[in-house]
Amino acid sequence: MAVKNQIEIKDVTHAYQTDHGPLPVLENLNVSVPLDSFVAVVGPSGCGKSTLTRLIAGLMMPDQGEVRLHGEIIKAPKSTVGMAFQNPVLLEWRSILQNVLLPLEIVPNKMSGGERKERAMSLLSLVGLEGFEEKRPSELSGGMRQRASLCRALVHRPEVLILDEPFGALDAFTREDLWQIMHELRREEAFTTLMITHDLRESVFLADQVVVLSGRPATSQHILNVDMGHERTLEDLYSEESVRMLAELRHEIQIAQGRSAGEKEAA
Ligand SMILES: Nc1ncnc2c1ncn2[C@@H]1O[C@H](COP(=O)(O)OP(=O)(O)O)[C@@H](O)[C@H]1O
Ligand SMILES: [Mg+2]
Repeated sequence: MAVKNQIEIKDVTHAYQTDHGPLPVLENLNVSVPLDSFVAVVGPSGCGKSTLTRLIAGLMMPDQGEVRLHGEIIKAPKSTVGMAFQNPVLLEWRSILQNVLLPLEIVPNKMSGGERKERAMSLLSLVGLEGFEEKRPSELSGGMRQRASLCRALVHRPEVLILDEPFGALDAFTREDLWQIMHELRREEAFTTLMITHDLRESVFLADQVVVLSGRPATSQHILNVDMGHERTLEDLYSEESVRMLAELRHEIQIAQGRSAGEKEAA
């Protein structure tokens, strides 16, 4: 049977056990990410977004419900998943190229040394880092480090890419550069993406669908389909339709924040 949804979160409920008793974080959460599509997840700070990524990464199991990748329930981390976070955590004692090659040293694969290098170099060139492959992470800007981190996440050709606020620490213009690079990567490579972000413009610019989570415990409060095609320019964000979508998302975030009583942090 063909599996349409690469990522399927079904009726997931989860609580952390803390010194003060159980902390319910996710409640009957449902999110589906179709093959080769890009779903962005937004929601108030502390509502459970990173918890969701940990469940998909196979780092924990939910108390109730199912988390499926390519149709199979996830019980442990899988090599068909690539991940990138807000902090790129590149190893300083390795060059940028060696950092990008790291997953190929861990994930079983039949590539020769030459093929691995060729694969890493083609990704580095795609994100505009040609000529920087022998540099150390500290010699690169924050935006360049995040580009390298995207290459590392994709080098082993994962079917699924999980991004947890990957551009959150970058300045506005660098972030916009990274958005364009993300579209470029999608044009060149086939993967299914779930991205957590707190930037509504980012979600509209990148995603095919935006899922708004409620306040904690998070459930899927609202779904917005972004029918813009994949050839998007930054100007598109100022179109009437984009402005309407952004207002809709802003409204939903306000509702979500109202639900999470006591949560003082901003979305
Ligand atoms: N390992 C843990 N043990 C206990 N509580 C946790 C743990 N991880 C996260 N939390 C709490 O669970 C809630 C959701 O966390 P998280 O998923 O990181 O939220 P988000 O990414 O949406 O900001 C927060 O209140 C956080 O403090
Ligand atoms: Mg988080």
